Amino acid sequence: MRTIWYMGAKTRLTTEILRAVEDAAPGARSALDLMTGTSVVAWALSDRYRVVANDVQAYATTLARASLCGPKVGPVLTERTLGRRFRENANALLDWLEPAVALEDAFLEAYGFDPEGGERGPFALGPMGVAARERARRRVPRDPQRRARAYRAFALGGPSFLEEGTPRATGPFRGAQDLFAQATIGVRREDPGTFPYLLASSYYPNVYLGLRQAIVVDSLRYAIDGLGGAQAAQRRTQALASLLHATSVTTSATSHFCQPRGLVRDSEVKAVLARRSAAIGARAQGYERELVALRASHERNPGNAAFCCDWRDLYRRWNEVGADVVYADPPYTSDNYSRFYHVLEVLTRYDYPTLEVRRGRTTKGRYPARALRHQSPFCVRRRVEGELRELIAQTAARGAALVLSYGEENGLLFKVWRARGLSAAAARRRFLELARAHYAHAELRKRTLLHSGQGDSNVKVTELLLVARGPRTCA
Ligand SMILES: C[S@@+](CC[C@H](N)C(=O)[O-])C[C@H]1O[C@@H](n2cnc3c(N)ncnc32)[C@H](O)[C@@H]1O
Repeated sequence: MRTIWYMGAKTRLTTEILRAVEDAAPGARSALDLMTGTSVVAWALSDRYRVVANDVQAYATTLARASLCGPKVGPVLTERTLGRRFRENANALLDWLEPAVALEDAFLEAYGFDPEGGERGPFALGPMGVAARERARRRVPRDPQRRARAYRAFALGGPSFLEEGTPRATGPFRGAQDLFAQATIGVRREDPGTFPYLLASSYYPNVYLGLRQAIVVDSLRYAIDGLGGAQAAQRRTQALASLLHATSVTTSATSHFCQPRGLVRDSEVKAVLARRSAAIGARAQGYERELVALRASHERNPGNAAFCCDWRDLYRRWNEVGADVVYADPPYTSDNYSRFYHVLEVLTRYDYPTLEVRRGRTTKGRYPARALRHQSPFCVRRRVEGELRELIAQTAARGAALVLSYGEENGLLFKVWRARGLSAAAARRRFLELARAHYAHAELRKRTLLHSGQGDSNVKVTELLLVARGPRTCA
């Protein structure tokens, strides 16, 4: 299964996790992947078990639902199904953005990229008008350094929606003033279904997406929401999961959405333009084809389900979950996933959230306001131990076995313990004791992996698997 780009996806560990789940609960029939992220573990588990996948983030639930749950459906991202509505929305956005898209195209061409990224299918925007193209080409300098500077000015200086006031839209954006206006967004905050859909084009243009890409994302989102008829919910889920996948692997930032790139070096300009030349529509279609083939070749338990809950809230609905074994993979570090993947969450909810403002200005990262972003206690030094303790106790109280992933070197709890002077061996013992308080048997398995960090360097990390069976509370 090809996942979205995700920090901490357990793709390389599914064999060990499956073995641990079997050992923790021999004869189990159902498994809960409590914090499913990419859903790669849930997918692996679903070969053998009825699977429930859960995550506090809606995009993760959408991805899980598309692969694991509901009826099998054929491709949705087609001209016949979505073409008309896609063009309706795209044309409305191009009425505002044609000159700016023409200039983006001219930069892409000058750097040797195809502005449509090879997109020839139903979700191609096609070339901009001749006059706009000619005007745009004249604005792109021939000299490489001046050209990089000009792109930087265009991309970093262009408008996007701001909480503190409507930005002035000038140059190629002159005709798009209304797109970025507070009134335009205000109407959509009241009614997100207002035509045209413009969230990506007003929140993230030249930030996490190129302009063409932003228009395609909004227009596909509009077309997907319009899907009706038989199995409409599953078809919408499949199409949205495919769009999320395409957006993830096309981000103009490094591999997530934590911070847009500053375009400081000329090489960075080229790297960002390479990403912006990619065809989101074709990528979404490609992923959907894989998903359809995957589902066609694998029977899945009709009892599979996917939830979008904080783990505590899900445990309150245990009668709907009823799992024999829980696999839990909480965040290891102080970095909240909701900050790194906020764009996927916003595109899923598509509700034009209020953006975070610091010192009177909308942040460069364009994160939703803090109160709207999930803050996980697993990411807080003074809360992480209590949260893990509680998770283990509550899992045992429900009579389920537990397999829990955690990082040794980078795990926040281990850092806290090391800072208090615990040796590595003592920290591992203490970790085991958390489980032994509630389970008759607990063991710790280790696997060393090479992780690529923020740079390209390979960092050795130890992945721990806590395997706990025989919950005491139900003995
Ligand atoms: C390490 S990632 C999981 C990766 C996943 N196992 C995979 O292979 O893709 C941690 C996940 O926990 C989720 N999460 C964090 N706090 C949570 C909570 N309180 N309840 C439910 N999910 C939570 C995050 O949204 C994130 O997707």
